[in-house]
Amino acid sequence: MPASPQFLTGNEIRQKFLDFYAKKGHHVLESASLIPDDPTVLLTIAGMLPFKPIFLGQEPAKYDRATTSQKCIRTNDIENVGRTARHHTFFEMLGNFSFGDYFKKEAIAWAWELSTEWFGLPKERLFATVYQDDEDAFAIWRDDIGLPTQRIIRMGEEDNFWAAGPTGPCGPCSELYYDLHPDLGDEDFDIEDDSRFIEFYNLVFMEYNRDGEGHLSPLQKQNIDTGMGLERMAQILQQVPNNYETDLIFPIIQKAAEIAEIQYDRTSDANRVSLKVIGDHVRAVVHLIADGVTASNIGRGYVLRRLIRRVVRHGKSIGISRPFLEDVAEIAIALSEGAYPHVRERERAIKDELSREETRFLETLERGEKMLAEVIERSQGEISGVDAFVLYDTYGFPLELTQEMAAEYGLTVNQEQFEAEMEKQRQRSQAAHETIDLTVQGSIEKLASQIHATEFTGYDHLAYDAKVEAVLVDGRSTEKAAAGDQVQVVLDRTPFYAESGGQIGDRGYLSGEDLVVRVEDVQQEGHVFVHFGRIERGTLQPGDTVNAQIDRACRRRAAAHHTATHLLQAALKKLVDESVSQAGSLVAFDRLRFDFNCPRQLTSEDLEQIESQINLWIAEAHDTQSAVMPFDEAKAKGAIAMFGEKYGSEVRVIDVPGVSMELCGGTHVKNTAEIGLFKIISETGISSGVRRIEAVAGPAVLEYLNVRDGIVRSLGEQFKAQPEEILPRVSNLQKELKETREELEDTKAELAIAKSDQLANEAETVGDFQVLVSSLEGADPESLKQAATRLQQKLGKAAVILGSVPTEGKVSLVAAFSEEVNQKGLQAGKFIGGIAKICGGGGGGRPNVAQAGGRETDKLPEALETAKKQLQESLQ
Ligand code: ALA
Repeated sequence: MPASPQFLTGNEIRQKFLDFYAKKGHHVLESASLIPDDPTVLLTIAGMLPFKPIFLGQEPAKYDRATTSQKCIRTNDIENVGRTARHHTFFEMLGNFSFGDYFKKEAIAWAWELSTEWFGLPKERLFATVYQDDEDAFAIWRDDIGLPTQRIIRMGEEDNFWAAGPTGPCGPCSELYYDLHPDLGDEDFDIEDDSRFIEFYNLVFMEYNRDGEGHLSPLQKQNIDTGMGLERMAQILQQVPNNYETDLIFPIIQKAAEIAEIQYDRTSDANRVSLKVIGDHVRAVVHLIADGVTASNIGRGYVLRRLIRRVVRHGKSIGISRPFLEDVAEIAIALSEGAYPHVRERERAIKDELSREETRFLETLERGEKMLAEVIERSQGEISGVDAFVLYDTYGFPLELTQEMAAEYGLTVNQEQFEAEMEKQRQRSQAAHETIDLTVQGSIEKLASQIHATEFTGYDHLAYDAKVEAVLVDGRSTEKAAAGDQVQVVLDRTPFYAESGGQIGDRGYLSGEDLVVRVEDVQQEGHVFVHFGRIERGTLQPGDTVNAQIDRACRRRAAAHHTATHLLQAALKKLVDESVSQAGSLVAFDRLRFDFNCPRQLTSEDLEQIESQINLWIAEAHDTQSAVMPFDEAKAKGAIAMFGEKYGSEVRVIDVPGVSMELCGGTHVKNTAEIGLFKIISETGISSGVRRIEAVAGPAVLEYLNVRDGIVRSLGEQFKAQPEEILPRVSNLQKELKETREELEDTKAELAIAKSDQLANEAETVGDFQVLVSSLEGADPESLKQAATRLQQKLGKAAVILGSVPTEGKVSLVAAFSEEVNQKGLQAGKFIGGIAKICGGGGGGRPNVAQAGGRETDKLPEALETAKKQLQESLQ
């Protein structure tokens, strides 16, 4: 048996890595967001990304050495996810970094010490690769580490030269591989054979910068960037055949399997691939939303949407027919909350976004299914590739799904045509790519490189002339769009606020000679603002000059709500608890929503005080001030920053002197008096320790009051009462209703009893006894009991069983036995308990009278029949 390392959990591996490098003088830093600061990449794809400016010498390093566990997402291999042992979209990269401090010698020695001593990997199972001409690295492995030369493999540029992208910092690298199956003998090392050799640690000797032309120039300093795949190390140490079966992911797979009522089967690909895709993607979408991404058709929003849709589709293909994303997301949240607490804090946002997208996509699929049904009906023998492609492209139906469904009707799909359509699509999108294509991952890089960041003029100007940089229809760049088109427009500068920091995007118009575009939303992608809207009149093309004008009324509403949100936070801190901190917010035109961490529940007095305090600040007419300053200065002044939010080195501070000071990029009133009035609508708990206040301010208050007033007025009309009379009137009505209900119950009971009197005639003689078994329609349990008792008394030496269905889904049974019956060994309680079992229930009681119940109403006749038989047998 080859030597094997000791089992460690994923969490233990992460901690051990960080502890090891902390011991080696590294600062342990938090994972950066999946949304990078770097506008040239869509998502954080490696542990080094947050440090890119340091490697490039653009920013000074705060420390010489750092270590992190970085959340990463890569989508370039998405099709391989679930099909191989190790491909992922979301993964955690453990890294140690040297900013011009140590270099190859230490990096290699520590990687070896960590792997063999801390993680206990048997030395004889390790291989190292080095870049073909990297004699230094080769010599260190051979001489310092003592690795036999046949286990130091030289590799070419493709495998052992690492770069974060086409340009930027890069360098030769050396990778550590683990032999999963030494039992298979001394075969040659084969980098392609990932079922045997798994790469788990990449050491990049980052010493070059690559420019746009591909030329390398030395960086100012020699750096180290490394990456150890947490999931891969877990696979090794947990001795499972792939990353998915580690404790980092497998519980998600198990949950999905449980919902689908299937088993995860190692030996069969049938459901396994889908389960693995779900396991992988659920982690990705949970972390994307936790970091603030929302689903859309462009940029990272599109990545999110695509991943969610893939989860839904794979769920369907393993037989899940109900929405299930919230349930699997809960497992992913629980798995990661220890290392990334903000994921639990964002639980509500994550689950809401997921279920919204899931429902929407299920509707799309349903429409697609309808289309497929039509296609099947009109196809003879074969479904055309064009139809299959439309199903794929518009409704997200993968080819296999169409093929499967077609096969059920004895049809095939023309795959060649389908491939040809796919190719045409690829060419179309490539052509679009040469201009700008926001629909695919990586396009944002193009966008950012072709269009400079949008200049935001909207703090000071509500209208501005701007040049059209790009026009997109359906997410694809176009040279001309016309009236009726739904468009996305990028301008060189804009007064439109793009949704961020909880505040929704401005509404308004872009206009020009004979041109009107109504702007319905504005979103930010990287540093570019995208205006979503519809051309109402005229045509629009890149290069046009337009007048961009925001809807002032909407802006006033947003500003009132935004400043009111700051006042709300200040009031909560002042009146409830200094530790109150923001957990999320929405600043809309019609209301505001503020989620906050709070150590206790709020009372109605708290809410009244908060409301009064805020309205006092409004009435005091405080001027608001905004200023841009270095982050450290803002912190020193006491400005509130939102925990977990990423801020640049320069920040904008909104100050209501003496009342509130917060870092904020939003738009605000110039004086608190502009808010007019503030009114809390509701206060609720949304998860443990997190509460939510919804409120209205400014013009929205009047709207809110009008709606409420309208309700009161129509109630008044219905009750023919003045507003102040409504409350007593309703109380009276409630009282009357209660009394009437009680009377009705009594009447029902009397009726049942009256009816039961006639039943006495139906009793049959069994031996010395009278036996009566009957149902009494609609009688409630109490009337049933009274009736049975009366009947038994009337019949004397008797056993009476009555049954009824008092309300839907409920069976009621009663037995009344005379003493003589008891003497025959029959107890009412025991007897009726046994009978009730037939109706899926139970019960019991005293020997003479007892009641029981059940839920299976259709079994009542059978139960009564059985009761009768048993009584006949026992009393004979
Ligand atoms: N940046 C290196 C990688 O991602 C460590 O593999």
